[in-house]
Amino acid sequence: MQVKSFEEYHQAYQQSVEQPEQFWENIANNFQWRKKWDKVLEWNFKEPKVEWFKGAKLNITENCLDRHLENNADTPAIIWEPNDPTEDHRVLTYRQLHDKVCQFANVLKNNGAKKGDRICIYMPMVPELAIAVLACARIGAVHSVVFGGFSAQSIADRIKDAECNIIVTADGSYRGTKEVPLKSVIDDALVQCPSIKRVIVLTRSHTPVSMIKGRDVWWEDEIKKVETQGNPECEPEEMDAEDMLFILYTSGSTGKPKGVVHTCGGYMVYTGYTFSNAFQYQPGEIYFCTADIGWITGHSYIAYGPLSQGATVVMFEGIPTWPNAGRFWDIVEKFKVNILYTAPTAIRSLMSFGDDVIKGKDLSSLRKLGSVGEPINEEAWHWFDEKIGHGKCPIVDTWWQTETGGFMISPIANVTPTKPGYATLPLPGVQPVLVDENGKEIEGNGVSGNLCIKFPWPGMLRTTYGDHERCRQTYFAAYENLYFTGDGCLRDEEGYYRITGRVDDVLNVSGHRIGTAEVENAINMHSSVVESAVVGYPHDIKGQGVYAFVVSPEKHGDEELTRKDIIMTVSRIIGPIAKPDKIQFVSGLPKTRSGKIMRRILRKIAEGDTSNLGDTSTLLDPAVVDEIKAGAM
Ligand code: PRX
Repeated sequence: MQVKSFEEYHQAYQQSVEQPEQFWENIANNFQWRKKWDKVLEWNFKEPKVEWFKGAKLNITENCLDRHLENNADTPAIIWEPNDPTEDHRVLTYRQLHDKVCQFANVLKNNGAKKGDRICIYMPMVPELAIAVLACARIGAVHSVVFGGFSAQSIADRIKDAECNIIVTADGSYRGTKEVPLKSVIDDALVQCPSIKRVIVLTRSHTPVSMIKGRDVWWEDEIKKVETQGNPECEPEEMDAEDMLFILYTSGSTGKPKGVVHTCGGYMVYTGYTFSNAFQYQPGEIYFCTADIGWITGHSYIAYGPLSQGATVVMFEGIPTWPNAGRFWDIVEKFKVNILYTAPTAIRSLMSFGDDVIKGKDLSSLRKLGSVGEPINEEAWHWFDEKIGHGKCPIVDTWWQTETGGFMISPIANVTPTKPGYATLPLPGVQPVLVDENGKEIEGNGVSGNLCIKFPWPGMLRTTYGDHERCRQTYFAAYENLYFTGDGCLRDEEGYYRITGRVDDVLNVSGHRIGTAEVENAINMHSSVVESAVVGYPHDIKGQGVYAFVVSPEKHGDEELTRKDIIMTVSRIIGPIAKPDKIQFVSGLPKTRSGKIMRRILRKIAEGDTSNLGDTSTLLDPAVVDEIKAGAM
């Protein structure tokens, strides 16, 4: 599945465009199927309807676990590094991971789980999170992982939307010096969720929790029951290629987060192929992905992609800055990591601590570096290249999305010449186009436009859970016969792609996608807020910060307290990741006569660029702009 030279890349790319079905069929033949497909691809972007490997039967966990047992049972699958470096790390070989997944799959079955059920997972970054995910896939249940930083309300919204019947969680988690409760957050969420019949709770932090009779059970007790039942195996459920594998919620420009749906066959092929090819993974290499399994990066490139390729994955529970900002480098040294995949926000944050924390660390095992989540600025790129890669490791800047399932535009390590700030070229099988506002394709090089994809790839989303029309509206209605990514993009003279950021009302804060409308809705819940408008502004570490303009005539107590109350409200409604960095109180928002908020103006003010605000004459009350300008933070 790996191309070995730039020439081979071009050949593979050309074949993938000219004969896409043959191209993907060859790739798919590298996986284990119970039954092969009747047809490689059927599609139209109108409905949209996309089906890959139709008629094929498989279980993804057979590819991620069982098929490695014959020759690689003792290869480490997961090396887990705990939050506290003085606690022992854990290693799970493929044999051990297989057994634990089977055990927990049987726990799920004992608790009533069946094929097609939706199971919510809200857990810390411990091996049991990966085990729970794979156990769902083993029995054909659909997992919906919710990142540990989301609030009770966000969890409840997701559980209700997917009508989950089981939730797997832990008592609490550790993040640096903090102990973060999880079960009590679930208890708050479940007040609104009658569909949940069972809560399975892993012991991690020994935080006191309330266990409700008939509903809540301990992970460890359930495992013991399975052990006494004496059948450690759990036969993998046979799935159709297009059966649902998981739902993952992500923010868009409007309303509530959408449940992006991925299916078994295409997702398996796509994540396995892209992992193997882009990182040029070699057997025995130690690969460390710093993401959380709660996000798509963790799904595709901690769990499914690497495991289907028999890779050894380092999974880290803690944060990059505790006990000090050298933690990543300690982990690299400790496990002799060969491939490090992280995010620009982490790089910028670690850069800011200076070079002392890297001094004396042995980073010589590193061969390849990866970046994901947001455009990487040149300064961070060079620092990563020089200080971490010592100029000898290619930087694989992977552009992709929750919806794409896997890498789309990315260098192939040691094959594609890299360029700071550029995701470089589309991987074989990916056909990007740039379009103007009217949907007209912009051809040639040295151009920029909105990034779309014009042909399906196996890892793409199939629908948004429970609302196919929303999927069509969001991704396939903006431009006819194209998947619209929501990103702006530049194609330089050489044909290299550089992602310039979102063109919709979605923010990218520390690599996390946050919808401005969602944050506004949360702010507006606060009792003394009349209305608000949220925009992004450049932030040295986070990439983008959250800037809120808030109309609040009746501030309760002093202004600073109201600010804190609003921040608390956002934390409660969405989660701490969406907290505004700046809140400016204003007497009104700049609106057109038809009542539309002129975000363009607010964005400029938030960016500190008030020299040219453009035409403000169409505003209902132009004076409000001067007031906002004067009070900008
Ligand atoms: O704007 C792009 C940015 O992150 C968005 C997707 O966010 P999410 O679905 O949360 O997935 C993040 C991990 C894949 C994209 O629309 N983005 C992601 N990777 C890059 C990027 N922007 C520039 N360069 C990247 N490498």
